[in-house]
Amino acid sequence: MAETQEFSHIPIIDVRDLVAGTAGKHAVATQISEACRASGFFYVVGHGVEDELQRRLQQLSREFFALDVETKMRIRMAPGGPAWRGYFRVGDELPSGKPDQKEGLYFGTELPADHPLVKSGTPLHGPNLFPEKPAGLRDAVLEYMAALTRLGHALMAGIALSLELSESYFADRYTREPLVLFRIFNYPPPRDAGLWGVGEHTDYGLLTILLQDNAGGLEVRSRSKWVAAPPVPGSFVCNIGDMLDRMTRGLYRSTPHRVRNPAPRDRLSFPFFFDPNFFAEVRPIDLPAGVAPPDDAAERWDRTSVHAFRGTYGDYLLNKVGKVFPGLRQEVM
Ligand code: OGA
Ligand code: NI
Repeated sequence: MAETQEFSHIPIIDVRDLVAGTAGKHAVATQISEACRASGFFYVVGHGVEDELQRRLQQLSREFFALDVETKMRIRMAPGGPAWRGYFRVGDELPSGKPDQKEGLYFGTELPADHPLVKSGTPLHGPNLFPEKPAGLRDAVLEYMAALTRLGHALMAGIALSLELSESYFADRYTREPLVLFRIFNYPPPRDAGLWGVGEHTDYGLLTILLQDNAGGLEVRSRSKWVAAPPVPGSFVCNIGDMLDRMTRGLYRSTPHRVRNPAPRDRLSFPFFFDPNFFAEVRPIDLPAGVAPPDDAAERWDRTSVHAFRGTYGDYLLNKVGKVFPGLRQEVM
């Protein structure tokens, strides 16, 4: 990835005009451009996702995680097979090689068992595993994924505009049928201060849209320090993933971040990953002259990622997934 820049705050962008498709969307795109070059992180407000849905999702998620672990393990991840869905316990996931202090539920686009991609055993495609209790969680998750998918399309149109590309640039090439991964994480208060809820990492795809509760604890790496991304009521935190960093030769940054729950109670978060289609070949963007990064930046970036553009997004993701869930590797790959 590109060298990390120095930044000290994460901007809040009102995306109302982008979501509505009104003339002000170009001003929104300008703000997105600045944020993506500086830190790769920004908050969005005015996104149009209903409060009621967010509150319902949070309440039902708390009810689920409050169940005993045996009940939760009825939908454990392994029997979900290659679809990569279901529940995992605290310590099952290893993004930085050490167990994370979080438990979670993995969801994705809901596909029926007789869908051709599911029948052929395509990794990461399949039906979700929903718990029996609480009963409303299934509907809340499906509604939320639909709402965030719409928002993802709108934000990617804004990102395209911000690069002086046609609004449908990403939709035409990558996200007509996006790969959507959605997780609900519960971070208990860490048992010792050396343990992270999620260790330092970058996200894999195009765009992550995160809902967090009011506990705090998300930090983003600037060149010389960590910058807090505290909860802002009514907002989502958006960040650029590795694919967009690669496509823009490091102009837009996939910036490392991490989480430690600072609260004396559980912390809930809801990362939604809006990613290229599984079969899409990821290619560099031919950026307009006024937008392209300076030559030296492109060179530096290329040297560190020679193999960046070989293969599909699915290839890239499976390689990462195998490292995060060693136990799942054999089943998925
Ligand atoms: C992630 C992530 C942050 C959070 O899942 O990639 O960075 O607050 N999550 O859970
Ligand atoms: Ni992340």
